[in-house]
This record gives sequence, C-alpha cells and structure tokens, in this order.
Amino acid sequence: MTRLRVAILISGGGTNMLSLINSMTGDHPARPVLVLSSTPEAGGLEKAQHFEIPTAFVDHRDFPDARQQFEAKLNQALRSVSPDIICLAGFMRILSAEFVESWHGNILNIHPSLLPKYRGLSTHRRALAAGDHFHGCTVHRVTGALDDGPILGQSTVPVTSNDTEETLAARVLAAEHILYPEVLRRVASGNKTPVIWP
Ligand code: GAR
Repeated sequence: MTRLRVAILISGGGTNMLSLINSMTGDHPARPVLVLSSTPEAGGLEKAQHFEIPTAFVDHRDFPDARQQFEAKLNQALRSVSPDIICLAGFMRILSAEFVESWHGNILNIHPSLLPKYRGLSTHRRALAAGDHFHGCTVHRVTGALDDGPILGQSTVPVTSNDTEETLAARVLAAEHILYPEVLRRVASGNKTPVIWP
C-alpha cells in the first residue's frame, strides 16, 4: 500500500507534532517523512528524532526582511521529501500566498480558537476577555489569508468561571491533540466530512 507522505512544520515544543506522529501507524493512510522547524531551538526536533524521523530547520532569523529567501529554503527542504500533505503544527511564521499556492491546497494548520473568531495571537486571552462560554480549536486548509481557509474540523471546550489563560490553553491543547490526528486521517483517506468534536 502506498502511503501519503506528511511533512510537519513546527516552531516550538511540538506536542501537536507528537500527536500526529503517534497517529500515523498501522492502517493509517499516511506516514511522517520530515519534521521541519523555523528555529533550531524548537523542542519538537529532538522529540521527532526519537522516532527516527528526518528533521531539519531553517532559522527564520537568518533571513531578516527576506521572507522570499526563507521560504525558498523551506521549499528546498520540503521538495527533497516530496510531501503530499504539509501539516503546520505550532508553526509561528506567516507564509506568503505564493508559497501556499505552490502547494495546491495541501497545507493544513491547527489554530487555537473557533475560527473565524480570534485569528492571530493571544486567542485564549481574547476569549476570556470577551466572556465567551465556549472556546476551542480549528483545523483548516491554509490559504494566502492569515488563519483563514476551508474548515476541516473544530473542537469546542467549555470556559469555566475560574479559568486563567493557562488553564484554558491547556484544555484547548488537549482538544487539539485529538482533533488534528482525526482530521489528518480523514484528509489522507479522501474523506471530505469535517470533524466536529465532541
Ligand atoms: C498550539 O496551541 C497551536 O494551536 C498553536 O501553537 C501551539 C503549539 O503547541 N498554533 C498557533 O497559534 C498558530 N497560529 P505545540 O508546539 O505544543 O504543538
């Protein structure tokens, strides 16, 4: 059986990356072929190495004011493994429309809010400040617009009256770890039904 090839892009601790890697076993239609970081310090790189998955980094700080060159290096690393799907998993750089379009809709992203609410940063703080009773996370196809694109899955969590940014972030992250693997499995299987969970 030919399995789809998945590259995972990270910038940090890589807990979503781990949940994706752990899911791609057995009869799963995809396998991880590369973990690529925007910084050499990302804790996720070492975690991926434990699974003997090839890793690489392109340090965004080497390309101040030169996003095109940064993206050219990313593309070089990606093209070398011919991925079918690219999963952004806590990848904290904005990608240009040209870069995104060159991958023909095959880039997925997880965002810690119920999009279209709270695009960008500090999503948990903004949900608390707004007095929201529900918050959550979204997996979507990446387009040229920030935290936009067709929604492939969403998971809702309650906001409690004594939540802090940290407690809410932890609850959302736990939901991310379930949602993202489920969406990836569906996308890799060609199943177009969005994941709505719970
Ligand atoms: C996750 O909460 C993810 O949704 C968020 O960064 C965190 C990464 O954690 N991504 C974004 O905010 C992207 N806009 P992880 O490195 O442990 O997976």
